Amino acid sequence: MSVTTAPTTATTLGFSTLDREVVVDELELSGELPSWLAGSLLRTGPAKFEVGEQRMRHWFDGLAMLHRFTIEDGHVSYGNRSLESRSYRAAQEQGRMVYGEFATDPCRSLFKRVQTLFSGGGVLPDNANINLTRLGERFIAMTETPLPVQFDPHTLAAADVRPYRVPGQLSTAHPHSDRTTGSMLNYAAKLGRTSSYRFFEVGRSVTSEHPSKPRVIGSLAVKEPAYMHSFGLTERYFVLAEFPFVVNPLALALSGRPYIENYRWKPERGTRFTLVDRETGEATGGFQTDACFAFHHVNAYEEDGEVVLDLCVYPDAGIVEDLYLERLRAGKPVASATLTRFRLSLADRSVRREQLAEQGIELPRINYGRCNERPHRYVWGNSNGAEGWLERILKIDVTDGATLSWAESSCYPGEPVFVARPEAEHEDDGVLLSVVLDVRSETRPPRSFLLVLDAADLSELARAHAPHHIPFGFHGQFARA
Ligand code: CO
Repeated sequence: MSVTTAPTTATTLGFSTLDREVVVDELELSGELPSWLAGSLLRTGPAKFEVGEQRMRHWFDGLAMLHRFTIEDGHVSYGNRSLESRSYRAAQEQGRMVYGEFATDPCRSLFKRVQTLFSGGGVLPDNANINLTRLGERFIAMTETPLPVQFDPHTLAAADVRPYRVPGQLSTAHPHSDRTTGSMLNYAAKLGRTSSYRFFEVGRSVTSEHPSKPRVIGSLAVKEPAYMHSFGLTERYFVLAEFPFVVNPLALALSGRPYIENYRWKPERGTRFTLVDRETGEATGGFQTDACFAFHHVNAYEEDGEVVLDLCVYPDAGIVEDLYLERLRAGKPVASATLTRFRLSLADRSVRREQLAEQGIELPRINYGRCNERPHRYVWGNSNGAEGWLERILKIDVTDGATLSWAESSCYPGEPVFVARPEAEHEDDGVLLSVVLDVRSETRPPRSFLLVLDAADLSELARAHAPHHIPFGFHGQFARA
């Protein structure tokens, strides 16, 4: 006897294409917005899952759409627009996928594959569907290729200019910000006959006519680069966590398989941490612990001769498999990540590991402005419910593992973005902004809403209803007015 899980409306809808682009001057609002809250929640995420005959295979493949919720004088306006990346434009013009994505590849010739990878040539995708950032006055959407896409935060139109070019072929969409200079810090993997991790900085003070030239701070030789979605930052160090999910660069160039299917799980390697000095680029390695996997670093800091870092940890890289669209749309549960603290001792290179809370958490956020590079007490994020999908907003107090949560039947919240109240004294004084997919049918078609919670106690302050469903996305940022 076989048991099949019926597709749930949430996962069917959350992974279905949104083509419609709108501008709405004022969304229907219930509740009351704090009077100090002014600015735009900007988000990116996959929204188009088919191109011509071809269907995207993985959640990370969908063509990006930008969303803007602008809060002003107690009202909320909204706009959304497909990100006009070259991946998107080529797909529109030719009616087929032209550039490869995370787990879906058009059939490219062997020659082109090698050219793509080792020359950084003209065929890398720039479908910036993971995250976005503000660098000086520029807004930049990002994915894990070296081609960020600049856009206008009001119209959401893409700019013709590349804001900068990453010194490598693979990078992260989770840059950090230097709290003194405001410059952007990130790492990239440079692939070739010999490969390396490169740590680089992009200054914030540039004009749109003069794209910034990244400054490489340090470089670290690597044979088989690990898949790393993010990294940590302390006052002195870049913190790299190399999980044993690694790729042979030559195989990546030659295999003919989609990008992520070239990575191999090699648990015998364990998880390795490396610290790279932000001033000198000098690397300190030798920190090793059991195999695990994570997408997201939560925060990192130095304390009493140790580097402390919190990650959302999975036992292995099976989560990458869990996020294939066929599985998700069939309502299969996805693995849950555990908030885990690693303490790296600078004295003896030992690694201690501690679970910080019982409940799982993903898409973590902190009070970044206050706690980046410094100790934090609170982590907000999403947590799986009984259906095995993100159904809750969670607040974890890392000092005692205490949690608070927000949930509502048939509602599926995305990443809760923390916005601090100006002049706030307490770390959790502010609001959370989360885009929630509401699949209750009632009399209207299902749609999404912007939820505004008090970040301290997770009580609801307001919600503003979008005119359509917004597919499940990854990350966004709040840009103050
Ligand atoms: Co991410």
